[in-house]
Amino acid sequence: MTMRDVAVVGVGLSKFGERWDSGLKELMAEAGVAALEDASITSNDVEMIFGGTMASGSFTGQEHIAALMSDQLGFKNIPAVRIENACASGGSALRLGYMAVASGIHDIVVVGGVEKMTDVPSAEAGTALGGAGDQEWELFQGITFPGLYAMMAKRHMHEYKTTEEMLAGVAVKNHANAYLNKYAQFHKKLTIEEVLNSKMVSDPLKLFDCSPISDGAAALVLAPLEVAKKYNDTPIKILASEQASDTLRLAERESLTGIKATSLAAEKAYKRAKVKANDIKLAEVHDCFTIAEIMAMEDLGFYEKGKAGKAVLDGETALNGKISINTSGGLKGCGHPVGATGVKQAVEVVWQLRGEAGNRQVNGAEIGLTHNVGGSGATAVVHIFGRSN
Ligand SMILES: CC(C)(COP(=O)(O)OP(=O)(O)OC[C@H]1O[C@@H](n2cnc3c(N)ncnc32)[C@H](O)[C@@H]1OP(=O)(O)O)[C@@H](O)C(=O)NCCC(=O)NCCS
Repeated sequence: MTMRDVAVVGVGLSKFGERWDSGLKELMAEAGVAALEDASITSNDVEMIFGGTMASGSFTGQEHIAALMSDQLGFKNIPAVRIENACASGGSALRLGYMAVASGIHDIVVVGGVEKMTDVPSAEAGTALGGAGDQEWELFQGITFPGLYAMMAKRHMHEYKTTEEMLAGVAVKNHANAYLNKYAQFHKKLTIEEVLNSKMVSDPLKLFDCSPISDGAAALVLAPLEVAKKYNDTPIKILASEQASDTLRLAERESLTGIKATSLAAEKAYKRAKVKANDIKLAEVHDCFTIAEIMAMEDLGFYEKGKAGKAVLDGETALNGKISINTSGGLKGCGHPVGATGVKQAVEVVWQLRGEAGNRQVNGAEIGLTHNVGGSGATAVVHIFGRSN
């Protein structure tokens, strides 16, 4: 089947954080209206919407999220479908939006992602997030997401001599990037010592090794590349959209020091986009915990196994380093409203490739990658984007 090339022609983001001033609907409107305006289209032009959310029912009582997004944005009776794929809901929604346009079924498609997590106490949020793992074998036995990633961190430290300082280096870098991003939840620079001295959550992961509980929304407008200039002077082409899965249960994985679904999705994405890992100079990766960014750098092929931690401490992944990772501040500094994250990653890469990232602009950015993980790695979605002119 011949597929059409697909471009992102509009992007929008709400401010991330503890948004007690807004409900789900207001967050969706903040991001959605910005994306429609960015693409210079009206709600009448949109043919379908895919809405990513992980656990809106548990966090707010509200289900049927895609229909609500469509209603809120004034779309007229179009198909609206909710995508739930744990923390990869946003990335998966983007992939389905891409497929809808690439196949020729629809021309203008909106992809949204939203989560409002701060209306419940942290412990309740933790239980809702735990649903992304195996209920019977993990959550019921008392393990939380920080606990699952702590086990991966311990094993990585054991096998590759990764240190707590290296983990802390990820948080320091991502908070420094978030400091430059007005949409970010945190505008607070950290030092290695502050991370190391923060309260223990699940050994070796401390408070500042964890992404926070967040509210936020993100939206994208997709169109066929051949007509994309009608909507935006700088359309950004989707060079690859790939996804893979692995066992839901951590105990059944081949290895605890990497996420196989990431390597598989990345391998397919590089092949589809006809690029190599070392062509990527800009990436938004899924740093739900600091160890997750280190594993992502290795699974995506940016660094050999066991070498990523040192590269972080050496500043190679800082803004305009050898490879700029998580210029938005990542999940750690920008925030992690789970259903919105995969869409927000794409928004950041589009701004970077258009040259619109302001004081956190990566010089000469031509190709960018996003990496969105569901749960402890049962799902991974990788997108590669490029300038189309
Ligand atoms: C780490 C965690 C348990 C902390 O929650 P908590 O102990 O209830 O923290 P509180 O909400 O009481 O916040 C206490 C302070 O720390 C800050 N804070 C909370 N989490 C933070 C984080 N992850 N990073 C930095 N600061 C954080 C809060 O802003 C607050 O600051 P303030 O006192 O200046 O207002 C919680 O953020 C968490 O569960 N994170 C992981 C989320 C997750 O698993 N996501 C899915 C990944 S797959």
